[in-house]
Amino acid sequence: MSTESKHAHRKDEHLAIATHLFDENQVNAFDQVRLLHQSLPEIAVADIHLETELFGKSIAAPIYINAMTGGSKKTGEINGQLAQIAAELRIPMAVGSESILTKEPASGSTFEVVRKFNPSGVVFANMSADKDLQQVQAAIDLLAADALQIHLNVIQEAIMPEGERTFYWADNLSQYQNQLAIPIIVKEVGFGMNNATLRQLHQLGIQYIDVSGTGGTNFAKIENVRRTGHDMAYLAGLGNTTVESLLEASQVQGPTYFASGGIRNPYDIVKAWRLGAQMVGMSGTILHLLLDSGLTQTIITLKEWLNQLKLLLAIFGARDLLTLRQAPMVLAPDLISYCQQRQIQ
Ligand code: FNR
Repeated sequence: MSTESKHAHRKDEHLAIATHLFDENQVNAFDQVRLLHQSLPEIAVADIHLETELFGKSIAAPIYINAMTGGSKKTGEINGQLAQIAAELRIPMAVGSESILTKEPASGSTFEVVRKFNPSGVVFANMSADKDLQQVQAAIDLLAADALQIHLNVIQEAIMPEGERTFYWADNLSQYQNQLAIPIIVKEVGFGMNNATLRQLHQLGIQYIDVSGTGGTNFAKIENVRRTGHDMAYLAGLGNTTVESLLEASQVQGPTYFASGGIRNPYDIVKAWRLGAQMVGMSGTILHLLLDSGLTQTIITLKEWLNQLKLLLAIFGARDLLTLRQAPMVLAPDLISYCQQRQIQ
């Protein structure tokens, strides 16, 4: 075990186990969604523009690096590298949970480092929903963050022996929403959301929701690898897929939806956009690319993905996200059954 605290050690464990469990060939619900191409699309790739604005800043495409890490020496290094990727690509990035700051203020540098490498890009702070306003404001200030992610991780906490056991979070969420000056994005951590949660969040005034569904990083599995004597491995199948979560979201108008969870390649990104996501995030896939192929190659690969995203839009005859939403789509029987049982039209 490292000489760092148990909190910092947990960050290292999450990173190591997530990397170990990552499966390049993972099948997930995005495979149950087909978009139909246009053989006569009447479009040129040069006419397709993915650049957009988020929270007042220009970004290269509506994709982002989702929350992962910080809090230990090693994860601080990873944050520095993720910030270089975000800056090179001109896409937003989130840091991992800054909750550790409330116990170990000295770990601040492992988050702050993202501004060293990405001084003017879009950066999301990240906190748990049990912190007071002052603590959350400190997490924002540390990064001069453009938005704040609040993660809802009830399943993960339940599986962790040392996890939270009190889940009264709604009052805090509306307080953050009403009192903080920057946008709030409420997110899951890879278990998805259904329309009851989405309605609750909407009623609390939350305007940005990252449904972060199953299909990629699985914290039930990660926590079960870490655990001693609190085996809840049987929960590994719990949750809504990202595709199901977006179908649920189509029933709750109002919030702007971000999607993450199991995004493996540009086609998954396009499918998530088609299903209604305004922004699409990746954690596990980018972490894997970075640790497997290094910083330079990851930047090359992701720049190539930006090109491929435009090619894909051309194939589907779409100039932008709005026209992509009209692309014909076919769902596999499991998803049709899900929609029927959930009364999703
Ligand atoms: C995460 N995730 C996460 N989310 C969050 O809000 N705060 C956090 O501290 C973390 N920590 C974390 C560590 C590691 C190593 C991974 C891989 C992920 C969850 C993440 O933001 C995302 O919601 C899920 O991982 C699902 O997306 P992927 O990984 O399937 O693309």
